[in-house]
Amino acid sequence: MSHSSPTSSTNSTNSAGSTGRADKAEGAGILRHAENGVLTLTLSRLDKKNAFTQVMYGLFADAFEQAADDAAVRVVVVQGDVTVFSAGNDIADFQQAPRDDGDRPVFRFLRAIAAFPKPVLAAVCGPAVGIGTTLLLHCDLVYAGDNAAFALPFVNLGLCPEAGSSLLLPRLMGHQRASEALLLGEPFFAEAAQEVGLVNRIVPPQEANAMAQIQAVKLAAKPLAALLATKRLLKGAQQAEVLARIDEEARIFGELLQSPAAREAFSAFMEKRKPDFSRL
Ligand code: COA
Repeated sequence: MSHSSPTSSTNSTNSAGSTGRADKAEGAGILRHAENGVLTLTLSRLDKKNAFTQVMYGLFADAFEQAADDAAVRVVVVQGDVTVFSAGNDIADFQQAPRDDGDRPVFRFLRAIAAFPKPVLAAVCGPAVGIGTTLLLHCDLVYAGDNAAFALPFVNLGLCPEAGSSLLLPRLMGHQRASEALLLGEPFFAEAAQEVGLVNRIVPPQEANAMAQIQAVKLAAKPLAALLATKRLLKGAQQAEVLARIDEEARIFGELLQSPAAREAFSAFMEKRKPDFSRL
């Protein structure tokens, strides 16, 4: 897979029909490619391990919001690099976070992916930290490289879960395993993720993106109304509950972002030292 260096933002709409026409565009850390009904969003900020900036969340939010209404997009694929999916939220961005948190692009993105009516697939290789893991809870099919490593170090950063993960993770893996991931912040790996159902299939890392594309093309060829109805039924009443939990988490997360513990954790990361929570 090739990568271009991030450029300034673009507003390309990237629609593509099922005729084989392909559109590509780059945003700040995101590549967009639309072909044969499949919109592929590739995280492309490798120098910072694909950490999400607010600009990237905004581009993701735009892409999902537009794709929901774009008849030419039937399926969305989210992928990263063979070495890393995403290091999660950009820590420098966290340090800049305004107090008025609920309106930040990250929450527009989370609401958009959680409510997205069409199938979403992900290909995950290497570290998937924070939102790199929690966004997968909103995907319908997930393919992981055998090097995938999932981590939710919110507490270690003085924060709390986001993206509805405080609701969805214990439902997926049970309270105790979710506590290991969310309270201790311990990573888990591809096999454990497959065992609990977060991941459909484990493949060699070089094959993960291709596997997601193969499955996406299969889905894009199916009757759209039947796909939409089936996804809606699969999500059922949980959808509203998840959206409400995303908002509740966002409120608490926003408060914790300003806390001394979070400030210490962010400074420690930027200064490449261990955080000192002994007085907090
Ligand atoms: N925000 C900002 N910068 C980040 C980042 C993040 N979340 N994750 C990595 N980077 C930067 C590093 O500071 C480093 O920058 P530098 O080259 O200017 O020093 C560069 O990306 C490479 O990261 P590095 O830690 O050296 O890579 P690694 O391969 O040793 O480790 C990770 C990769 C993802 C395991 C590790 O970077 C990590 O744990 N990142 C932080 C994850 C995190 O806590 N995210 C927030 C979740 S809510």
